[in-house]
Amino acid sequence: MELNLKGKVALVTGGGQGVGRAICKELAAEGVRVVVNDLFPERAGTVAKEIVKSGGEAVAAPGDITKPEAVAAMVAQGRAAFGPITILVNNAGVTPERRAKGGMPPLFIETPEREMQQTVELNVFGTMYCCRAVLPDMVAQKWGRIISIASEAGRVGEARLAAYSGAKAAIIGLTKALAKEHGRDRVTANVVVLGAVSHEGIAPGQATSPDATPETNERLAKMLNAYPAARGLGRLSRPEDVSGIVAFLASDRAAFITGQHIGASGGYAMP
Ligand SMILES: NC(=O)c1ccc[n+]([C@@H]2O[C@H](COP(=O)([O-])OP(=O)(O)OC[C@H]3O[C@@H](n4cnc5c(N)ncnc54)[C@H](O)[C@@H]3O)[C@@H](O)[C@H]2O)c1
Repeated sequence: MELNLKGKVALVTGGGQGVGRAICKELAAEGVRVVVNDLFPERAGTVAKEIVKSGGEAVAAPGDITKPEAVAAMVAQGRAAFGPITILVNNAGVTPERRAKGGMPPLFIETPEREMQQTVELNVFGTMYCCRAVLPDMVAQKWGRIISIASEAGRVGEARLAAYSGAKAAIIGLTKALAKEHGRDRVTANVVVLGAVSHEGIAPGQATSPDATPETNERLAKMLNAYPAARGLGRLSRPEDVSGIVAFLASDRAAFITGQHIGASGGYAMP
């Protein structure tokens, strides 16, 4: 399928590893000029270099998306390099460990306020600041794509992940509102909803680490039961299971998909 994305400009937040890194590479392979953001400059720089080395176009724009001035600076940097940004992928987010070493994450009533604030700052305010920073260019170009990455925790709620569940749910509400406000500008806004994803950024030994197998890791074997598609495939999802969906949503083939939350979790939830 021809996606016709060549020459478009995308900003991917948290593009330095895991799901974000795969999205950057997939978009670059489609001919998109990619602005790679990450909190850690070396991560953003490595991914941008990997893309350029394989013949694509990318620039690193590190910065903390919880700071509006940093968001403005990275958008200005991306714009100066490639022109107006008309594809935004809100990917940055930290997946809380459900089972910290030797214990469990706290219940909501035991969660420190600072932890709640950090979760909301990154997932909600970070996403809002990025949307607000790129929307004027999308409106002026009369074309845009906002694709945000959420979690099934935001659709069904997960015990011991209350703040994260609430923050990811907020992204869905924000997306629907933006879809309504900017349909007239040919800007679509959608959410891709993930379950557990196994990737290179996860430390060896954990159930979601790429080196784990259901035969060697008892917890992974149990986890697979929660994902209908994973039972057949014998594995959790990988970044490449997500990046193709993002590229499709960024294209004109998805012009009539807006305000939607699309599960890429192997059927963990079917809302
Ligand atoms: N991995 C999973 O199992 C899973 C499950 C459901 C949803 N998700 C969601 O998918 C997205 C990607 O997950 P992942 O596992 O690839 O994450 P990850 O933690 O491996 O990578 C996220 C990247 O975002 C960057 N980042 C963190 N804070 C930032 C900030 N303030 N500004 C800019 N960059 C920042 C990190 O440096 C990191 O490189 C997240 O939104 C996450 O919540 C992941």
